[in-house]
Amino acid sequence: MNGSEQAAEQNPQRDLQQDPRQGPQQDPQPAPEAGEPLVALDGVSKYYGNIRALEGVSLEVHAGEVTCVLGDNGAGKSTLIKIISGLHQHDAGTFSIEGDETRLSKPREALDRGIATVYQDLAVVPLMPVWRNFFLGSEPVKGVGPFKRLDVERMRETTRAELLRMGIDLRDVDQPIGTLSGGERQCVAIARAVYFGAKVLVLDEPTAALGVKQSGVVLKYVAAARDAGLGVVLITHNPHHAYLVGDRFILLKRGTMAGSHLKAEIGLDELTRQMAGGSELEELSHELERLGPA
Ligand SMILES: Nc1ncnc2c1ncn2[C@@H]1O[C@H](COP(=O)(O)OP(=O)(O)O)[C@@H](O)[C@H]1O
Ligand SMILES: [Mg+2]
Repeated sequence: MNGSEQAAEQNPQRDLQQDPRQGPQQDPQPAPEAGEPLVALDGVSKYYGNIRALEGVSLEVHAGEVTCVLGDNGAGKSTLIKIISGLHQHDAGTFSIEGDETRLSKPREALDRGIATVYQDLAVVPLMPVWRNFFLGSEPVKGVGPFKRLDVERMRETTRAELLRMGIDLRDVDQPIGTLSGGERQCVAIARAVYFGAKVLVLDEPTAALGVKQSGVVLKYVAAARDAGLGVVLITHNPHHAYLVGDRFILLKRGTMAGSHLKAEIGLDELTRQMAGGSELEELSHELERLGPA
């Protein structure tokens, strides 16, 4: 089999598109998609009264990939993930989960469809042990299957084992979760989502309040979730963090799309420039030069 036959066999879609019987030529697709997106937004808008929080935003989340949503404060990042996680509903556009057009009416529905969200202000109970927080809201129900009662020892063991599987060696899962560092708490939340079978993991600025080293640790677990086959949505205003783990980058500016790139299409410098507002920043730097040292 020669090279082109092989390519055709691996990607029959591509040949079909070039078939003249298909009618007018369509725009060439960007890279061939590996399967259906787990989550797809197309032209999504959201208004809070008169305030336009989002307008015409599109993105895809694929299994085993990280989609980064970048933007300054007020860009609409949190609004975007509130739609994906079922807290808010979009006013226009479409939201599809594995190809099904969807409108989620509550967070529980998102969870049932495999979308787990870790919010900026982590919903943990600081004084409760780590294992208790790990199972919070999903404690084994009494009288079903092997769990006839709350099996504390099993919850402890599971928590320990699952954290270890993600590379977090927590000697004492009985310690209050409030005693863990911010980075460790984010990691526990990620491990929890993976354990409870999430297909999509949404993280709202998990590194925003963290130092360099802890941010690195969290990004490592983001990569681990991705490698476990989850589709990850990473919200951040830090292009460096995004570029370390991201496959796709969506730039939001005042609620609108200011850019959408695959990693192969954009370098860190350009991503940083776009994120910083490109020409606006250059203008500022000229102005600062004029001002001279204080
Ligand atoms: N519940 C709300 N009611 C009214 N306006 C809101 C609400 N939530 C967010 N907004 C507004 O929508 C815009 C986007 O906010 P948000 O999604 O929180 O941005 P980000 O997370 O990127 O900082 C902002 O102008 C914000 O003030
Ligand atoms: Mg936010």
